[in-house]
Amino acid sequence: MSREQARLNQDVRDSSTTSLLDIEVLKKFDVAGPRYTSYPTADRFVESFGPEQHAVWLAKRGSGGLRRPLSVYVHLPFCNTICYYCGCNKVVTKDRSKAAKYLRYLEKEVQLQTKLLDDPSIAQMHWGGGTPTFLSGAELRDLAQMLCTYFDRSSELECSIEVDPRGVSEESVWLLAELGFNRLSVGVQDFDREVQRAINRMQSEAQTAQVIATARAAGFRSVNVDLIYGLPKQTLTAFDRTLDKVIALSPDRLAIYNYAHLPHVFKPQRRIDAADLPDVDTRLQIFSLAVQRLTQAGYVHIGLDHFAKAQDDLAVAQRRGRLHRNFQGYSTHVDSDLLGLGVSSISALGPTFSQNVRTLDEYYDRLDANTLPTMRGIALTDDDLVRRNVILALMCHFELAFDSLEIAHLINFREYFETELQELEAFVDAGLVTVEGDCLTITERGRHLVRAICMVFDRRLRQQRMRASYSKVV
Ligand SMILES: C[S@@+](CC[C@H](N)C(=O)[O-])C[C@H]1O[C@@H](n2cnc3c(N)ncnc32)[C@H](O)[C@@H]1O
Ligand code: SF4
Repeated sequence: MSREQARLNQDVRDSSTTSLLDIEVLKKFDVAGPRYTSYPTADRFVESFGPEQHAVWLAKRGSGGLRRPLSVYVHLPFCNTICYYCGCNKVVTKDRSKAAKYLRYLEKEVQLQTKLLDDPSIAQMHWGGGTPTFLSGAELRDLAQMLCTYFDRSSELECSIEVDPRGVSEESVWLLAELGFNRLSVGVQDFDREVQRAINRMQSEAQTAQVIATARAAGFRSVNVDLIYGLPKQTLTAFDRTLDKVIALSPDRLAIYNYAHLPHVFKPQRRIDAADLPDVDTRLQIFSLAVQRLTQAGYVHIGLDHFAKAQDDLAVAQRRGRLHRNFQGYSTHVDSDLLGLGVSSISALGPTFSQNVRTLDEYYDRLDANTLPTMRGIALTDDDLVRRNVILALMCHFELAFDSLEIAHLINFREYFETELQELEAFVDAGLVTVEGDCLTITERGRHLVRAICMVFDRRLRQQRMRASYSKVV
């Protein structure tokens, strides 16, 4: 073991003993589970909730009570090359004309959707992918103008876009600023050359630094960087060097995702040799190191996989109890409706979720038939709404005041969640959760297990497990 490796191991052990991350506890309680960007999770959506139901809820936005602000998500699925790890809904192609066809159909969808909206003002917009910057400058401009003709943008509009720095020129970044984008999310994953070769994503630090510096010069309010831990060929020492480089770039926010290796679902992942993946201990040590280094560098661990500078809106919102969670992760936009546009995008309207078809062919067929491309969705039951609030509070604030739920949902918390509170005792005994008076708190040590703690309150998961064990018995 090299001296550098020994120092890192000691750092990780130190962070464990100072209770930032207790790797043994993580190994015992951490289970594969949802990231709860929604409750119920998307795998619970049903096909009986289709275009008609989506249309009803879109049209209902204007009726009764308080109208929630509207956010818009636009999915742009094209990429130039394939990154082997990728689990996003994307179309890898060199054929640029595919984008032009997609944009024509996207406008058709926008027409169908906005016809049902009585108020087209929007408070937030996000373009994700795939790679939105696959589009040419002229296409980016046309798309932004097209959306402006159907939606009213407030001057305060928070406008964000995902950018793959490979092949993004300074001109493109200036163009994005001119089109009104003020938040940039930059994909990095890892700066180590060996890791980059194993994931088929060669990306230099210089390219990345150039994009970030240009974004700052062009007036972007916030820059986010995405990293992934658990990738093939990753080691603690090499990831430490990646962290050095990322911290030097000084992004306002960071997402450090846990690599989801599901080769049976995402075919390109079959090109990753499972023998190259770091073992559980190394993965946890890498994440532990990231938490430690980023905390030392002045970042706040917002929750799960997100970090932000203390003065960033996300950290401010968390301190003020106004943090929210949606399909893009943590957000400062409390309680807004979301309209998803493009293939596979998800909408959240009132107490419903709905998702568009996933493939381009299905998308074009639906729109040729003048039908909304909704594929599936769900209308939340009263029970779902209670549990959604519980999971949101835990994910965003690590704390739950029983009386706020009792008043909002007319329940007796301890009676309603008797089974769940019993199940939580194992977490209480391990010092990960406290239940005192009318408040459930996830302790500092328990924060890294917030997913596992939320899973206790996930009734649909419980039902699924019961069905699975029942079918094993019979
Ligand atoms: C749509 S992609 C990013 C935008 C752009 N295409 C790029 O690659 O820079 C969004 C992010 O999802 C994350 N991601 C993709 N596949 C993943 C996987 N299998 N496990 C964990 N994170 C993943 C990556 O961090 C990626 O930057
Ligand atoms: S990570 Fe980004 S660029 Fe790579 S395949 Fe996925 S969406 Fe495309």
